[in-house]
Amino acid sequence: MSVGYTWVQWSPTKRRYDIIATIGIIAFLAIFVIVGKVMWTGASAIGDEVLIIRALGSCALVLLHVVLCIGPLARLDARFQPVLFNRRHLGVMTFLVALAHGVLSIGYYHGFGVVNPLVSLLTSNTQFTSLQAFPYQLLGVAGLLILFVLAATSHDYWNKVLSATIWKRLHMGVYVAYVLLVAHVITGSLQADRGVLGAALVLMGVLIVGSLHVLTAVRESTHDRGSRGLLENGEHWIDVGAPGDIPLDRARTVCTPGGERIAVFNDSGAISAVTNVCAHQGGPLGEGRIIDGCITCPWHGWQYRANDGCAPPPFKEKIATHQVRILSGRVQVNARALPPGTKTPPALLQNPEGPNHG
Ligand code: HEM
Ligand code: FES
Repeated sequence: MSVGYTWVQWSPTKRRYDIIATIGIIAFLAIFVIVGKVMWTGASAIGDEVLIIRALGSCALVLLHVVLCIGPLARLDARFQPVLFNRRHLGVMTFLVALAHGVLSIGYYHGFGVVNPLVSLLTSNTQFTSLQAFPYQLLGVAGLLILFVLAATSHDYWNKVLSATIWKRLHMGVYVAYVLLVAHVITGSLQADRGVLGAALVLMGVLIVGSLHVLTAVRESTHDRGSRGLLENGEHWIDVGAPGDIPLDRARTVCTPGGERIAVFNDSGAISAVTNVCAHQGGPLGEGRIIDGCITCPWHGWQYRANDGCAPPPFKEKIATHQVRILSGRVQVNARALPPGTKTPPALLQNPEGPNHG
């Protein structure tokens, strides 16, 4: 939630993560240069400039993999959730390292001729039909441009201006950038003296990113299919489970026949339900917790009151709520979403922390 504009949104935790990430980047670059000096000797020896260009490019690509893995990891294991809070800062750092790689590459490979370096970059190789000589640097340029757009619009200001839906769609462009940059490295590696090791490592990275995303999707769709319900007077009531199944100050999520997810929270024994979609950037509220009496989004910490879906003052965001009831010892939630900010009475548990047969 943002009431005023600040260039960078830092908190002590974010600052700590940023320091750790910066140390990690410096360590990666140093280790790459040292290993590179040992590895590339004799006939395959390379100059310091090329070594630094390779170190920066590899560092940016590793960072991009980390950024893409954080989402699914946090969904598979809640212990990764704190890292989600810092994902945007890590994304901006990825762009800055990639920018350094791109600028140095343009200077080194295109800066010594009579042609303007940017013109040379765009026109010196146009062999688009050849795999052996494909202009792989242009793939890097396209990937870098997308990373720039994402970094430039990463601030909450743009989320507000563009709306959460458009902002989210725009930031899905990270996957387009990823494909372009994987192609940049693979085609570049295969046609240079770097051999197939680089390409093999990148393919391993693709496998890790891909399998984590598939695993998360399979797990979520299996969970969604498990949501049972009954139709009563035209209203669809979905079974959430026994009251004791919802952990204290946490939620259980269920899925409506229309595919929308609902987060049903146990707020100290009062069961309330809200949409699972955070108003900020669509974070999964059901994976969050009740902190200081409010549902707290696991992604960036926006908060909402469980009984009416309103953010606590001075914030003004509102999310949809759902009716809940306890019938024959089962918690049920109405699939029909109420307008954002609608107050609904919670279903009260007799024993907030244990099995309940209300
Ligand atoms: C203006 C944009 C870019 C240009 C002109 C460019 C250019 C280059 C060049 C010339 C090389 C080969 C260097 C050599 O070993 O001789 C290279 C390799 C590489 N680039 Fe880029 N690149 C750009 C963007 C990117 C971006 C955005 C990323 C990743 C986020 C990236 C990642 C890499 C990687 C991982 C390598 C291979 C390094 C290695 O083999 O050790 N590049 N790039
Ligand atoms: S998505 Fe950012 S706080 Fe919920």
